[in-house]
Amino acid sequence: VDPEPIREADRVLILAPMGRDAMIATSILNEIGAPSVVCGDLTAFCRALRAGAAAAVVAEEALQGGLSEVVDWLGAQPAWSDFPFILLSLRGGGLERNPNAGRLMKALGNVNFLERPFHPTTLVSVVQTALRGRRRQYEARERIEDIRQAEALLERRVQERTAELASTNRQLAAQIAERERVESALRQSQRLEAVGQLTSGVAHDFNNLLTVVLGNVRQLQKTETDSSALRRLDMMAQASERAAKLTAQMLAFSRQQKLDPRSVDLNETVSAMRDLLQSTLGGSIQVQTRFEPDLWPAMIDPTQIELVILNLAINARDAMEGGGGALTIETRNITLAAPTQPEEPAAGDYVMLSVRDTGSGMAEDVRAKAFEPFFTTKAVGKGSGLGLSQVFGLAKQSGGGISIDTRLGEGTTVSLYLPRGKAVVDAVSNAPKRGIDRRPKNDVILIVDDDHLVREVTVGLVRDLGYNVLEAGSGGAALDTLDSHAEVRLVLLDFAMPGMNGAEVAREIRLRRPELPVLFATGYADAALTESDDDQIIQKPFAEADLADRLARRLAG
Ligand SMILES: Nc1ncnc2c1ncn2[C@@H]1O[C@H](COP(=O)(O)OP(=O)(O)OP(=O)(O)O)[C@@H](O)[C@H]1O
Ligand SMILES: [Mg+2]
Repeated sequence: VDPEPIREADRVLILAPMGRDAMIATSILNEIGAPSVVCGDLTAFCRALRAGAAAAVVAEEALQGGLSEVVDWLGAQPAWSDFPFILLSLRGGGLERNPNAGRLMKALGNVNFLERPFHPTTLVSVVQTALRGRRRQYEARERIEDIRQAEALLERRVQERTAELASTNRQLAAQIAERERVESALRQSQRLEAVGQLTSGVAHDFNNLLTVVLGNVRQLQKTETDSSALRRLDMMAQASERAAKLTAQMLAFSRQQKLDPRSVDLNETVSAMRDLLQSTLGGSIQVQTRFEPDLWPAMIDPTQIELVILNLAINARDAMEGGGGALTIETRNITLAAPTQPEEPAAGDYVMLSVRDTGSGMAEDVRAKAFEPFFTTKAVGKGSGLGLSQVFGLAKQSGGGISIDTRLGEGTTVSLYLPRGKAVVDAVSNAPKRGIDRRPKNDVILIVDDDHLVREVTVGLVRDLGYNVLEAGSGGAALDTLDSHAEVRLVLLDFAMPGMNGAEVAREIRLRRPELPVLFATGYADAALTESDDDQIIQKPFAEADLADRLARRLAG
């Protein structure tokens, strides 16, 4: 049977080259079952030490002259190890009579001296003590190893946890930043929303007042013969028209403008405006264009976009006042990611039109308020602060957006993003203009408006066009009039009325007399109205030719 393989760590090394000591020691150790290895010389002993051993039985004289290698090995022992030696000494007597023994004890550390000749039981007890000590050391080594592993594990856990915390921290910081951004965007859009409501309310009431003023001026102009009075009337008409333009800009900001979006080639629009732009900007400003060759068509009201481009060009001119500079209009197809500011459009395909100037640029507080109606940094009478509001409103109402890139002292780029339209179709040419037909007609028209001043003006205008007129000051009164007057051929109906509004009155009318045409008069594009046929709506304040045309068409259709 093969003997159990001897583990190096369990063996006892024997170095006693002379005499019979090695043989005797081997046989004694055999008897107590301690595995042993006899080393022929110091070199072999050192090699065996490095391979591993539990203890060593060494004859004192064998170490003569070659101690340093052993001492080196001892010095390199791990912390748990204190290798035990059993030295077989030559002379009898105590240590005091053997000076070499003192030296060896100092060099080797854990040493037991055994005087020769030794009794077998003495060797056995000394070796067993040494082996027990060595086993303790091995146990200590394992414990230290356990502790090291536990420490390493702990360290790894701490590192993992620290990394987790750091990543959570980063996520939190990112979330906080994102939330702050969203909140500020929300605040900004809520403010614009609130200002928009206010503006549209003011504009709506103003529009009614202007309808009265302008209507009456027009009436007077027809009958007045005194030239000085006529000049004054003309001034009043011009002022009212300018006021009407301002209310239109306010309505544009609150996205309640009546729009007629079509597929438009913006390269063409800008090209056609070049002369106008150059003359508006003056000789010291250079107008440049940078067109995307295969520009997508934009879905936009062609008249409004021209106004907006002009508006932006005038802002640019004002910003470059004095020094001259360059204005660059650029078009581009662009696909946008999600917006970061309320004025920017949603993600998607857009046609971009940007107007860049080399002017003053805007400070951050100016930029933040630039879209607000009536915000202006210009002198009284120079700017109304409605230009960018109108641009903003048009872009938003058209389903696009806007962004401003500006740096103080370096210039500004305002970019409009307009929804991508279908292929451009040739615009239908407008019907040739005819003179206004004022001949008396047999048709009776019912005019419904809650504002009696507006109603009076409208009645005057419609009478002048040769129609017979009935009036009503509310929806209920209108329905009563219809019931008692079968001869009514058309209803001219104010859309925004207290109580029963225009849409509700129209519904009632349709129930009673389905064939009776209705023409809505409105100061702003109500959502319910934009859906319906253009022919059914007339914009206040009325232009006489427009009113004549709409009435005739509704009566004919
Ligand atoms: N291109 C630009 N460069 C520098 N500042 C600008 C530019 N465009 C607008 N601003 C600033 O934004 C403000 C608001 O512009 P907005 O067009 O709405 O009104 P406005 O030009 O002052 O008056 P309005 O256009 O009604 O005549 C301006 O007063 C100006 O301070
Ligand atoms: Mg302006």
